[in-house]
Amino acid sequence: MTSTPAKIQFDQKPAKNADTLVVFATEDGKGARLTAAAAALDGKTKGAIKRAVAASDFAGKKAQLLVIPGPDGVSAGHIIVAGLGKPADLGTLCFEKIGSALSAQLNARKSVQADVSFPDDEAKAGKISADEAAAHFALGALLNTYRFDKYLTREPKDKKPTLKTLHVTVKDAARARKAFSAGQKVAEGAFLTRDLVSEVPNVLYPESFAAIIKKELAPLGVEVKVLTDKDMTKLGMGAILAVGRGSARLPRLVSMEYKGGKKGQRPVAFVGKGVTFDTGGISLKPGPGMEEMKWDMAGAGTVVGLMKALAARGAKANVIGIVGLAENMPSGEAYRPGDIVTSMSGQTIEVHNTDAEGRLVLCDALWYVQEKFKPTHIVDLATLTGAMIIALGHEYAGVFANDDGFAQELVSAGKATGEALWQMPLHEAWDKAIDSPAADMKNISGGRDAGSAIGAHFLKRFIQDGVKWAHLDIAGVAWSNKDRPGVPKGASSFGVRLLDKYVADNWE
Ligand code: BES
Ligand code: MN
Ligand code: ZN
Repeated sequence: MTSTPAKIQFDQKPAKNADTLVVFATEDGKGARLTAAAAALDGKTKGAIKRAVAASDFAGKKAQLLVIPGPDGVSAGHIIVAGLGKPADLGTLCFEKIGSALSAQLNARKSVQADVSFPDDEAKAGKISADEAAAHFALGALLNTYRFDKYLTREPKDKKPTLKTLHVTVKDAARARKAFSAGQKVAEGAFLTRDLVSEVPNVLYPESFAAIIKKELAPLGVEVKVLTDKDMTKLGMGAILAVGRGSARLPRLVSMEYKGGKKGQRPVAFVGKGVTFDTGGISLKPGPGMEEMKWDMAGAGTVVGLMKALAARGAKANVIGIVGLAENMPSGEAYRPGDIVTSMSGQTIEVHNTDAEGRLVLCDALWYVQEKFKPTHIVDLATLTGAMIIALGHEYAGVFANDDGFAQELVSAGKATGEALWQMPLHEAWDKAIDSPAADMKNISGGRDAGSAIGAHFLKRFIQDGVKWAHLDIAGVAWSNKDRPGVPKGASSFGVRLLDKYVADNWE
């Protein structure tokens, strides 16, 4: 689906045929300070590095890069000096950022094979071990090589990424390799999420989405079960079925069961909104920008990538993934404002706006997972509300939860992985706002106040007593309009790394 990402190797010995040599410098009071390996290379090149540093504004700042073309004394065509910043500040995210900046620069310089003299000693001065630092450096580099280019049939060759191998020369190569192995699996999961979220709505629709899930996860030992619209009718899932009714592509609900934990231990569940295209339905969205609504299945894409990551790295936890898949289209068969539908829970919902469809998809998925799998904890993910973008922009996703401790566990996992969450409040008054005189509830409040919280309160009505629940509204972060460390413009896979970390820290 994507161009092949670069291969990462760890070795004690440097690569033989590298076209680019990467060394490091730290930032101290006076400017850049070369590492031992950088100083040795400077000697070999008759002072090329020190001359270049003196002639430039390179100060060794974190992720600052100095490119030296055509150095004397070595066969490589380029030397790149990468800044580490102040060694005492170095943490995992710093190394990811440096790796990410470097892999972009290597492709820009048309490097095919690069050798990195990893700064073990400087890494040790930071907050983490050298092998962990090397693993995060490699992860940042790898994540940043993602590209969705399957439909670019006429792209000139010189625009394609060139980097094939990133060779990391590090003292304890075996430990670095081991530290990287789990991260690499998580990256594979994130890449699957990015592929799914980038995929176009004439190709990715409920049925084809379900087939991809089976193909990707079944070989990893995940039990995948696909419910068709007929199965869902039998189960009484009137809410998700209503959303999909206007489309020729009927809904699916897919469960993914991964049993890596103790036998009989109740699982944690992840539930994703998978609206493969959201036109708004009869409450039609405006035309301009509507094409963006191909990524209205990002919650589901994240759950699938997460399940792949967990299964591939052999997480020792019992985890359920559920995705509700539907296409929201206007047609003669579409559901309409004014309809009252009955959800699987038995609660009736008066539809006031067919564009508030995500909550209708999720409410049946949430009820189903509780009835069938009895999880103690549920996290749902959804591009649920435009209001979330108004509140938090593109830097944080919002987390609403019925338990503050649970919310904080998620917030911590987000801090560690650079996928930031901000806890948002719930309030009784916002629950009341969706009462309806005609049904048990309506699907919008009718006003513009606290739009994201209204969506959260709707979902909360489908959480059974005693279940810990958190809702991640990822509307602002699922797609990035700018490059970020490890996240090239486009589908971000926000949540895969965060929830993998949450599982590792709290369930294994
Ligand atoms: N998928 C949208 C939310 C969305 C909008 C995500 C923009 C990403 C970018 C969702 O289904 C929707 O349409 N929500 C409505 C809710 C409203 C009708 C209460 C919205 O946000 O306008
Ligand atoms: Mn909508
Ligand atoms: Zn939507």
